[in-house]
Amino acid sequence: MLEFSDVGFTYHSDHILRSVTFGMKYGEFVFLIGKSGSGKSTLLQLIYFNLMPDSGEIIFENYSSRLIKPSLLPLLRRKIGIIFQDFKLIEDRTIYENLAFVLETVNTPAKKIKKRITEVLGEVGISHKIKSYPKELSGGEKQRVAIARAIINEPLLIVADEPTGNLDPGTSFEILELLKKINNRGTAVLIATHNYELLKKSSARILQLENGILKEVRNSV
Ligand SMILES: Nc1ncnc2c1ncn2[C@@H]1O[C@H](COP(=O)(O)OP(=O)(O)OP(=O)(O)O)[C@@H](O)[C@H]1O
Ligand SMILES: [Mg+2]
Repeated sequence: MLEFSDVGFTYHSDHILRSVTFGMKYGEFVFLIGKSGSGKSTLLQLIYFNLMPDSGEIIFENYSSRLIKPSLLPLLRRKIGIIFQDFKLIEDRTIYENLAFVLETVNTPAKKIKKRITEVLGEVGISHKIKSYPKELSGGEKQRVAIARAIINEPLLIVADEPTGNLDPGTSFEILELLKKINNRGTAVLIATHNYELLKKSSARILQLENGILKEVRNSV
């Protein structure tokens, strides 16, 4: 599904990533760890082609970083759901409107929008917040909405950048469990995290970034 081959990325002559090579299969669950500034967010942005490598090649499905035309980027990004530490919900829109927005941008028929929103809010366990505004939700609830938004177009891969960074340990664990549940239905998940407690609660594969080099720390059991 995803293949990094000798990927290098430089920022203002700093080598953030050097010859990074790894792959992810359909349905895999992987953690990405590394100190602050080690390049985790950079690597995630390369996956959804928000950044482009300076050397090497990234292949996601049938898209290559060497060949992709900018006009095809929206199609690629539709296959990837993205989750951030700070949720990135639209504050002056309700939860329903936040989710409808994503479906409207991919021209979902009006009849299907309500049905799909009801489905995903049920999956993440916050159907009762459909008419609320983001500011009326707790951090954990907001992250559930962000997960609903990430899965609403049925992506192949979910990329999560510190999804529990703003949450207490109990809520972090619930969010991890929710991402595992989504993974169990076949969606691949890649989580960049500092949260070592979460790693202990899982036997998933772990990749580590250090000095621009990506190492396989633990293979899934
Ligand atoms: N647009 C940018 N502006 C400033 N610095 C950048 C930018 N892009 C990358 N960098 C630099 O790249 C390096 C890697 O940053 P990145 O955000 O990927 O690290 P990270 O592992 O996600 O860190 P954190 O754990 O703090 O989120 C840092 O040294 C950062 O300063
Ligand atoms: Mg980061």
